[in-house]
Amino acid sequence: MITLDSYNFSGKKALVRVDFNVPLNDKFEITDDTRIRATIPTITKILNDGGSVILMSHLGRPKDGPTEKFSLKHLVNPLSLILGKTVKFAEDCIGDQASELAANLAAGEVLLLENLRFYKEEEKGDESFAEKLSKLGDVWVMDAFGTAHRAHASTAVIGKFFTDKVCGYVMQAELDNAERLLEHSERPFTAIMGGAKISDKILIIERLLDKVDNLIIGGGMSYTFSKARGGNIGNSLLEADKMDLTLELIKKAAEKGVNLVLPVDNLVADDFSNDANKQVVGVGKIPDGWEGLDIGPETIKLFSEIIAKSKTVLWNGPMGVFEFPSFAEGTNAIAETVVKATEENDAFSLIGGGDSASAINNAGYGDRVSYVSTGGGALLEYMEGKELPGVAALRG
Ligand code: 3PG
Ligand code: MG
Repeated sequence: MITLDSYNFSGKKALVRVDFNVPLNDKFEITDDTRIRATIPTITKILNDGGSVILMSHLGRPKDGPTEKFSLKHLVNPLSLILGKTVKFAEDCIGDQASELAANLAAGEVLLLENLRFYKEEEKGDESFAEKLSKLGDVWVMDAFGTAHRAHASTAVIGKFFTDKVCGYVMQAELDNAERLLEHSERPFTAIMGGAKISDKILIIERLLDKVDNLIIGGGMSYTFSKARGGNIGNSLLEADKMDLTLELIKKAAEKGVNLVLPVDNLVADDFSNDANKQVVGVGKIPDGWEGLDIGPETIKLFSEIIAKSKTVLWNGPMGVFEFPSFAEGTNAIAETVVKATEENDAFSLIGGGDSASAINNAGYGDRVSYVSTGGGALLEYMEGKELPGVAALRG
């Protein structure tokens, strides 16, 4: 793979696939700009070489062509502010206007194209659409790690229309950090898995059983474990068809000598709301009509002791419904302990993308852990051992 550092962009127009799929509120303001900030070093390197940058991305999952809500025009001002430079905008990612703006782009200038997914061809991986996009630049830079698990026109198919295909800094860092974690981890290695569904995480959990010393399981998926072991979980999240699987995982962990750690208590609520009545109960003792929305204080203590002693930490998925401040304590406590392990025990800590990344950033700890991934599904697939189409395209 050609690295960004080994390539001289002087006089070149770089067509850069970024993942600017950021959350917007109903006023179209960005509520978490981590993915945009992450790409600034890549953009700056190209501009400093004397090149120009054409940025392309998707935003959301538009189904019927151009939609105000999913327009990348909402990102033009925030991006210009972060970059300290006015960013031009093409109202269509292909067509005459995009071609003209790209052709007239001077060294040092940046152009952002409208949402690629306004064309169904993008997700279909349509070749002629990819070819049209490819005409806009001299070199393709793939820096959209968060979308690298999609075999779309701009993330993978486009590769065949370029001789020069360059791996951006975001991609490089994501791959290097995941590799360090999976292949060169210092022991003890603790993985903390949370989030709602076992079905989303089962493949990575199975792979991690061959790598980790401790596997901590919290969050919504822990209630299925509890129910399978005969506990009462009230109205808590349950994947009834995964109960047997949880028992198998417990068995496999024991066979492999992995310390699988489950919650010992929960903070439960009588309603799915921030203002619900709440109480702490032992695991498997959730009364009818109540549901678990966070881990309890004994669990926080138990998990924290293990995490604080670790030399490698992977965290993917929240411990509870942290979007409700009343049920954020478990997730925030884990974030604090991961920071502590990093700063006081010199641990290498990687925070998986998606919800755990938002949790750690919202808590203000984003730069006090070793690395926060910009990928959600992409990171999971990579760690499951799958080859990502966006990475394969850079190699091919
Ligand atoms: C993400 O946020 O998961 C990536 O940007 C990919 O988006 P997608 O899941 O809609 O393909
Ligand atoms: Mg996704």
